[in-house]
Amino acid sequence: MTSPDTAPVPVAADPACVRSIGVVGGGQLARMMIPAAIELDLPLVVLATAETESAARVSADTLLGRHDDPAAVRALAERCDALTFDHEHVPQEILHGIEDDALSAVRPGSAALVHAQDKLVMRDRLTRLGHPCPRWWEVRDAAELDAAIAAAGGRAVVKTPRGGYDGHGVRIVETAADASDWIADLGADGALLVEELVDFRRELSAQVARRPDGASAAYPVVQSTQRDSICFEVIAPAPGLDEERQQEIQGLARAIAEDLGVVGMLAVELFETVDGRVLVNELAMRPHNTGHWSMDGAVTGQFEQHLRAVASRALGDPSPKAPWTVMVNLLGGASEDLAAGAAAAMEADAGVKVHLYGKSVRPGRKVGHVTVAGDDLEDVRARAHRAERLIIGRADAAGAPDETAGPESGTAPRPRTAPQDPTDPRSAA
Ligand SMILES: Nc1ncnc2c1ncn2[C@@H]1O[C@H](COP(=O)(O)OP(=O)(O)OP(=O)(O)O)[C@@H](O)[C@H]1O
Ligand SMILES: [Mg+2]
Repeated sequence: MTSPDTAPVPVAADPACVRSIGVVGGGQLARMMIPAAIELDLPLVVLATAETESAARVSADTLLGRHDDPAAVRALAERCDALTFDHEHVPQEILHGIEDDALSAVRPGSAALVHAQDKLVMRDRLTRLGHPCPRWWEVRDAAELDAAIAAAGGRAVVKTPRGGYDGHGVRIVETAADASDWIADLGADGALLVEELVDFRRELSAQVARRPDGASAAYPVVQSTQRDSICFEVIAPAPGLDEERQQEIQGLARAIAEDLGVVGMLAVELFETVDGRVLVNELAMRPHNTGHWSMDGAVTGQFEQHLRAVASRALGDPSPKAPWTVMVNLLGGASEDLAAGAAAAMEADAGVKVHLYGKSVRPGRKVGHVTVAGDDLEDVRARAHRAERLIIGRADAAGAPDETAGPESGTAPRPRTAPQDPTDPRSAA
């Protein structure tokens, strides 16, 4: 007979009990999963394209390979019990193969993930489910695009359905000629997404974690501000959002997670319109830039929560630890070396939490973020922005908060109007 203290710890009845996790993509999101994986003792294997990628620099176990190479992704799946994502652009056929052959659990599964991969599929599904979206059109040629622009009121936002990130693949147009390059690139089955240009008061983001059995945990709804279409500042919780509105938006995010069968973290990017409606912009099914505040500002950070959900463990408490947490992204600027600036920011304010991603600095590239938490929102914001300026090496480091950083700047952020050329395959959002 086995005595109680030598009896094996019972393993959950779930035959797919997850003891190791593979992450497709070696960007900063994979990197920030690593500390949580260590704490939970869930070995993490990272599929990265180079040893120099953000996560590969610190990962104890890295496979080198591309996210769109079936052999590489399958090799990762064979090494772990569950597969999850640093970015969402893994081809559906590869995921189907892994699911069909039961090489590992895919979380979120391909049927959910497609809504984060393809903005047309997402718009169509959310509209059919009755979730609030901007008015939108699917167009296949210049004539259809001109008709959609006219229907939208003479200006519209055109988006490439796949592969966009940080505003790449998003453009304001007034005529089909403004997107002639994208139309020329459309293959036989290709289409573009056109949306009305939403007159928004601000952008919000709602994050929920969902487990395979449907249990979920909702984070406070946050306000996010973009600079040149890249997330720059996040305030948690969103200022001025009353309890009823907050619950309504959290309910929307939970419903989307449930309807689409999401497993792991889901971020629902939202517009709060000038006339008071809330519309879904897009979805991300992984930890998201608008959730970085939670690493320092919530009882359970989003990276830990994502792993708990993917591994089918109990979800942690998503409650904030302070009345306000502000996150400011470090977007590459003049200074190529962040170490001196980071040292200065830490010297100046012991309450600033600095997160550097180990990436080479290029203008506008996300290379880190800072968070500050506290009781007084304006104080917390000012300190976070001061730290950002010190680290990035901007000359006005001692001055007032960045005038582009807050909702009071008066001009709502807008997508780029000029063509952008994606060079980085990673959404890294
Ligand atoms: N229909 C719209 N009306 C007004 N502004 C929009 C619209 N769609 C997008 N935007 C603006 O452009 C930004 C980028 O758009 P979107 O989120 O679709 O692109 P993305 O490049 O996929 O973003 P991410 O970096 O979050 O992956 C939004 O955050 C918002 O500021
Ligand atoms: Mg977005």
